[in-house]
Amino acid sequence: MDPRFRALREVARAAASSPNPQAALVRGLRALLDCYRLPCGEVFVPQGPGLALRALEGCEGNCPLHDPIRALAARALNEGRVLRTPALVAVPIPGERGPRAVYAFARRDLAEPLDDAFLEALASVVGLWIDHAELYQRLETREAERGRLLRRLLLVQEEERRRIGRELHDDLGAHLTAALLALKTGREEDAREQIRTAMATVRRVSRALRPQALEELGLEGALRALLAASGLPYRLEARLCPLDPLVEMVAFRVLQEAVTNAIRHGHPTRLELRLVCQGERLLGELRDDGRGFDPATTPPGVGLVGMRERVEQLGGELSIESRPGAGTRVRFSLPREAP
Ligand SMILES: Nc1ncnc2c1ncn2[C@@H]1O[C@H](COP(=O)(O)OP(=O)(O)O)[C@@H](O)[C@H]1O
Ligand SMILES: [Mg+2]
Repeated sequence: MDPRFRALREVARAAASSPNPQAALVRGLRALLDCYRLPCGEVFVPQGPGLALRALEGCEGNCPLHDPIRALAARALNEGRVLRTPALVAVPIPGERGPRAVYAFARRDLAEPLDDAFLEALASVVGLWIDHAELYQRLETREAERGRLLRRLLLVQEEERRRIGRELHDDLGAHLTAALLALKTGREEDAREQIRTAMATVRRVSRALRPQALEELGLEGALRALLAASGLPYRLEARLCPLDPLVEMVAFRVLQEAVTNAIRHGHPTRLELRLVCQGERLLGELRDDGRGFDPATTPPGVGLVGMRERVEQLGGELSIESRPGAGTRVRFSLPREAP
């Protein structure tokens, strides 16, 4: 088989089995050297204004050609095309934003005639391999993070169920037992009092379980009630359209947490809430002019995690922009129809 095809096939095969950018660079260089039966070659990557040597294959000790090789590699990286001198060759590896690396080698003992089309094809395969590997790594990190957050959310939900169970058992149960006892011993007024307290517990627990305001007032009314309850001056811009009840619920819960956070952590002087239908999306935004925080360094708590999870589960996106001293803006976009 033509050694060039063999080289391409080997690199493509290796790409399928290893999502690792460094392995891709070295494997591609090795295939190139094997193909032309070259003794040695180098991989450079851009670093600041210059180049850094990323890997060597087959080079022993100091290469006398090192300096001219480096210079040619730098030019190939800038120009984004294969360059050659009578003694040297440099092949840039394409990346999403311009060349990401350069292969460089001496032509000295070249067994085959050099062929730019092949060099470019090999470099493209390596470039695609690296794109793919980087994407894969980003996905893996994201998946791991998501798994971690989801576990925390589940723990919190579990804790909430335990708390509600305890409240039903200890509080409600105790008042009903006391009421029963009072009835048995003819203390009717005591019994009535116990039952009233029990009813208050039932109302409290059921409010905790579903946003009553949403059911009674609708989304816009519930948001207005939420803002009014903050005691701060606020602006509410709502341009709503018919929404899936699940989407409504998520929008409300997310804004409820955002408002709570703004008040509890930001201590703002005013709140601005916007919720509008735009095409097939529902766009929400809460701004506060409070003390802000650095989302990159502040570990998210259950509140922020829950917001993001809820939105992403419906196929939406959520972003939080904040800076210490510059207030906070929470924005999300949800599809109007839940999946
Ligand atoms: N609007 C806000 N203004 C200032 N800090 C905020 C705001 N929202 C969130 N934060 C910061 O982010 C952290 C995480 O928020 P969250 O996940 O809701 O957890 P919790 O509210 O239980 O602390 C908060 O402890 C706070 O430091
Ligand atoms: Mg919170």
